[in-house]
Amino acid sequence: MSTLITNIAELMTQDPDHRVLKRAAVVIDGERIAWLGQAADAPAADESVDAGGRALLPGWVDSHTHLIFAGDRTAEFEARMAGESYSAGGIAVTTGATRSTGDFDLTRLAMGRVAEAVSQGTTYLETKTGYGLDVDNEARSARIASTVADEVTYLGAHLVPAGMDAEEYTDLVCGPMLSAVRPYVRWADVFCERGAFTEDQSRRVLQACRDAGLGLRVHGNQLGEGPGVRLAVEFGAASVDHVNYLSGADVDALAASWSGWDGWDSDKGTARGTVATCLPACDLSTRQPLAPGRELLDAGVQLALASNCNPGTSYTSSMAFCVTTAVLQMRLSVHEAVRAATYGGALALGRESGNDVDGERAVGSIAVGHRADLHLLNAPSATHLAYRPGMPLTHAVWRAGGRAR
Ligand code: NIG
Repeated sequence: MSTLITNIAELMTQDPDHRVLKRAAVVIDGERIAWLGQAADAPAADESVDAGGRALLPGWVDSHTHLIFAGDRTAEFEARMAGESYSAGGIAVTTGATRSTGDFDLTRLAMGRVAEAVSQGTTYLETKTGYGLDVDNEARSARIASTVADEVTYLGAHLVPAGMDAEEYTDLVCGPMLSAVRPYVRWADVFCERGAFTEDQSRRVLQACRDAGLGLRVHGNQLGEGPGVRLAVEFGAASVDHVNYLSGADVDALAASWSGWDGWDSDKGTARGTVATCLPACDLSTRQPLAPGRELLDAGVQLALASNCNPGTSYTSSMAFCVTTAVLQMRLSVHEAVRAATYGGALALGRESGNDVDGERAVGSIAVGHRADLHLLNAPSATHLAYRPGMPLTHAVWRAGGRAR
């Protein structure tokens, strides 16, 4: 079954040449993009959709969420708005609620959150464990996550549970807990921050997870300067997320990790660096300084934007809100912000290129052979995302070629 989407006013491909086509069309065949170009040259297809002069983008790739949780932290949010500062300790509140919720309800809650994200244009999504914090609950979270998300990350190292010795808990994270989650996860993460895991503990977690064959990511430099970015680069992590407080050496290390990278063509085997993932909704909700996205881009760092949807620091899955904030407050251009929220997310998840076969197709950009993940805005150009902040601009969504909205 093929579908021609025609009468596209602006087609933002986020392909290697950063092409933006006017008066364009796209053909979807099954789950892949089969053709794109000028509408006047479009081939016939089984069915046709008139985009009505709207803008078409790649679907959002949300590379950082925490969707496997129960409970609510409104009181903590209210206290923060009244002047209290965020501390990692709130994670324990969600852990309690999550542990006491059964599989059915935990799955239902997570599915509802994914549905909300998809209805706003997200077509590829990562989520994490991290509110179980014991072997059974982390394994259960990983199993549930693997049924609702495209990519799953093990974050047993989110917080040391109350009453446990930090070193003993780190042993658990690196041993029995890792074995229990391993069948369900592709990535591992550690919250390397004062109040969470020290540099040494983080190093142990990253080493054990790398030895277990997992790709790595790091929660780093969220609440203050620290070793997170340095460790992420040293371990060749795919991303370091938050990056609010960076030293010059951190920026240089991230930039150096991309030197010699050959971009799109992963077949050349050139070294990939560590993506800096900015989480602007979290920065606003915790009243932290916004991550220095402009400076990172100018230094040559590859950037992702993600929602960080979680009940403590960022209870939103709106990637459009993140893009809007990145343009209005972080001084990214619309094209740069959309790129970070699509191609950048794919890069952070190692999915920016693919083999043009089911299950391995590239996401985050519109090119022949890539997964047909598309987001049609109810606007003639992507600029409207920043020009009309907060407006419901998602008109239609295709996820792996299927109409999702
Ligand atoms: O990414 N920083 C650590 N983890 C989450 C917050 C988790 C929570 O407070 O529940 C984050 O912001």
